[in-house]
Amino acid sequence: MVGGGGIGRALVADLAERAPALELVMTSRSPQPPDLATRVRVLAVDLATDQSLLGLRESLTGGAPLRLVVCCAGLLHAPDLQPEKRLAQVRRSALERSFAVNAFGPLLLAQALEPLLPRDLPFHFASLSARVGSIGDNRLGGWYAYRAAKAAQNQLLHTLALEWRRRLPLACVSLMHPGTTATSLSGPFQGSVPPERLFSPRRAASQLLDVLERLTPEQSGQFWAWDGQPIPW
Ligand SMILES: NC(=O)c1ccc[n+]([C@@H]2O[C@H](COP(=O)([O-])OP(=O)(O)OC[C@H]3O[C@@H](n4cnc5c(N)ncnc54)[C@H](OP(=O)(O)O)[C@@H]3O)[C@@H](O)[C@H]2O)c1
Repeated sequence: MVGGGGIGRALVADLAERAPALELVMTSRSPQPPDLATRVRVLAVDLATDQSLLGLRESLTGGAPLRLVVCCAGLLHAPDLQPEKRLAQVRRSALERSFAVNAFGPLLLAQALEPLLPRDLPFHFASLSARVGSIGDNRLGGWYAYRAAKAAQNQLLHTLALEWRRRLPLACVSLMHPGTTATSLSGPFQGSVPPERLFSPRRAASQLLDVLERLTPEQSGQFWAWDGQPIPW
């Protein structure tokens, strides 16, 4: 699990119960993310630096074969970064920061891990995208950097899926929308969400794993919602 945010930690907790035989690894920029099940190994990774990704590869080299990688890292806001409501608020620095985590991060993660991937075992590489990254579904506008970075991630990982289909035919690459989930990422924007449409991290994690469990390599390279429905690009 890459990214120790709300959904990342909930995915680890769910997997610890669902697949007790799996060795779980979580990456985070914090040395010890809160509320983590104890049998999880935590590695320090910042997706925005190549050195950190190389360090991840080295830490995992020689370990058990990777069966499931989920990139749960994402950036929508920070104390000095707010999603744009209009063109005048767009900043080059914010676009670059958003793309570094939301778009380039998952692809460069795949590149760093590729030498460790099993060729003879089914394998999932999933990354959390967002429905707002769908160009076909964009009716509201706003959030330029986040929307565009998620759309770029979708293209990058769809392209990766086509490459791996030839070289790693048992790999399944998936882009996943978790649904609006009560985490720090959505915190400032939850006011307009009806309670029944705001998932707890545990519910979101469980739904995502239910979808992933059903996906096969033939379906690699698609964009899925939390309920297993495809989302238009
Ligand atoms: N919550 C929602 O409603 C919602 C809706 C649609 C899509 N999503 C997507 O779901 C994913 C998970 O979000 P969340 O709701 O769990 O948000 P969150 O609690 O804010 O977690 C996001 C995590 O991303 C990690 N991250 C940020 N920058 C990073 C970097 N440079 N390198 C490595 N990790 C980095 C951080 O983990 P560490 O601090 O541990 O490093 C952070 O805790 C994101 O991709 C988000 O875009 C969420």
